[in-house]
Amino acid sequence: MRIAVCPGSFDPVTRGHVDIVERAARLFDLLYVAVLDNTRKQALFPAEERVAMLREATAHLPNVCCESFTGLVVDYAQSRGADVIIRGVRSPSDCEYELQMAGMNRELAPGIETLLLPTSPAYAHVRSSLVKEVAVLGGSVDAWVPENVSRRLRERLQAKGGAGR
Ligand code: PNS
Repeated sequence: MRIAVCPGSFDPVTRGHVDIVERAARLFDLLYVAVLDNTRKQALFPAEERVAMLREATAHLPNVCCESFTGLVVDYAQSRGADVIIRGVRSPSDCEYELQMAGMNRELAPGIETLLLPTSPAYAHVRSSLVKEVAVLGGSVDAWVPENVSRRLRERLQAKGGAGR
C-alpha cells in the first residue's frame, strides 16, 4: 500500500490545493492531507476549521484523509506509515524553498522522499495569503477557492468585523 502525506498551512485551502490533492490521490493508495497546527503562526482559521474545509473540498476523493498535525512533518509521515511527502510548486521561487525543505527532511528522515508536483497553470498565481487579502478588501474570491471556503471566509471576516463579500 503506497501512502503519502500532503502537508501545508491551508489557511484556507484553495482550488490550487484541491488540484494538487486530486492529482496526488491518483498516484497513491492513501493520501493524508495534513494541516500544520502551528501555535507560533497567526492563522485566520483555527486548524480544526481548516481541516473541516479540506474535508468538504475533498469529499469526492475516497482515498484522502484530512487531519491536523503538530511537530515535524517527517515524524507525522512516519506515524502514518507514509514514505512520500507531496508538495505543489507554482514557480521557480517555490522550487527554491521546496528544495531546501526537501533536503532538510531527507537528512531528518532518509527513508522519506519528497515529490514536487507542478501546479496546473490555471492555478499558478493562486496563493492563500493573496486570497485572504482580496477577501478582506471586499473582492470576490470565488474563482480561487471552493464554494464552501468562499462562504466560510465571508462568515469569518464578518465575525471579525472585516469586509467579506
Ligand atoms: O503551506 P505551507 O505554509 O507552505 O506549508 C509549510 C509546511 C507546513 C509544509 C512546513 O512548514 C512544515 O512541514 N512544517 C512542519 C514542521 C517541520 O517539519 N519543519 C521542517 C521542514 S524542513
